[in-house]
Amino acid sequence: MYAFSNAVNSMHSEDIKQLMKQASGKSLISFAGGMPNNDLFPVKQIDDIYNSLPEDIKKLCFQYGPTSGYPPLIKSLESYLKNKGLAVEDNRILITTGSLQAISIITQEFVNEGDIILTENPSFLGALSVFETARAEIHSIPIDKDGIDIEALKSKIESLDRKPKFLYVTPNYHNPAGIIYTPERKKELLEVLAGTGIILLEDDAYSDLYFNEEEQHLTKSMKSYGAKDVEIIYTGSFSKILGPGFRLGFMLSSEEIFEKAETVKQAMDACTSNFMQILANEFLAQHKLEPYLKFLRNEYLERKNLLQKHLKTYMPKEITWNEPKGGFYIWLKLPSHIKSTEIFNESVTKGVVFVTGRTFDPASKKDDRLRLSFSNMPKDSIEKGVIILSEAIKKVLENSKIESL
Ligand SMILES: Cc1ncc(COP(=O)(O)O)c(C=O)c1O
Repeated sequence: MYAFSNAVNSMHSEDIKQLMKQASGKSLISFAGGMPNNDLFPVKQIDDIYNSLPEDIKKLCFQYGPTSGYPPLIKSLESYLKNKGLAVEDNRILITTGSLQAISIITQEFVNEGDIILTENPSFLGALSVFETARAEIHSIPIDKDGIDIEALKSKIESLDRKPKFLYVTPNYHNPAGIIYTPERKKELLEVLAGTGIILLEDDAYSDLYFNEEEQHLTKSMKSYGAKDVEIIYTGSFSKILGPGFRLGFMLSSEEIFEKAETVKQAMDACTSNFMQILANEFLAQHKLEPYLKFLRNEYLERKNLLQKHLKTYMPKEITWNEPKGGFYIWLKLPSHIKSTEIFNESVTKGVVFVTGRTFDPASKKDDRLRLSFSNMPKDSIEKGVIILSEAIKKVLENSKIESL
């Protein structure tokens, strides 16, 4: 037995590893993986981009680059973020190796062992792992269909004897809850944080993946609201709009926060892959992103509609959910007397996997939900997957009735 560190034994990291394994299982119908389907990637376009690069840029692909990122990609990102209404002139962009690295960097930058971090409940489990590894004290605040529970947030902040370092939220097409914050809720959240000195960490990995053009304005980030009395660090990712294999993300923050973040990143991996940054930059600079996003939005809308239709047909009436307006996830609600883990144990033997609710609870307890991801699902497997899952749920419901007799 080795003397592993306390941090490495954290529960959530183990869950991620299991998740990745399940998602790659060939014979399973997997609602587990929160990633695009392989068939959706722009393989041909990236082939063309690489083949038409000038020789000197090809050589640059193999080279180290500046820690803050490949300058032309920073430029391209500036216009991408400007289009989203973000004040890039007053801030700095740091390119990161996935946006999960941005979350790691920010955590290293601000959090000492025992410091408080506020999160939503449920919350993205990758971020939870990072916070746990930093030995932070995580306090979570429930969310409803419109966003974080404002009253719960207020009383949490009042009840703490120390100031939390930051509040981590995913307001647009939440992972796992699938919801989008209403503009009112975003405003209220900023009002609560105003003047408290609690930094807002706004994770915006999914905002380009709305289903309805007319609802695009709902994805407006809080960082673009221009609040003067709340420090906001905004993070974004190429994983859901180009491919997670690029391992490309970024953070947008004030100069002071950027400077220290760059130092942290330097010690982590010196720089993000030039190869990937150059390919991604060409994708943006040659205006290939917007048409590709249009294609993706249609694909995900179709998958969501199919999943929604089959859930309506097959799920027992005790199961409820909110229909998502974008993103990757449907978050099913179970009656309180049955657990998502029991359903998982039943459905996995029949060949269907998903992610259990407790995985997204910082305390690993709340288990009355389950996350279905439609992004990675071949369209023709959705119905079969839902039938098997609904049978598993019915069986667990039946068993619970028998047990209570
Ligand atoms: C909310 C959220 N943030 C960040 C990430 C991580 O993305 P990346 O691949 O850029 O590290 C994910 C990936 O699932 C996510 O769901």
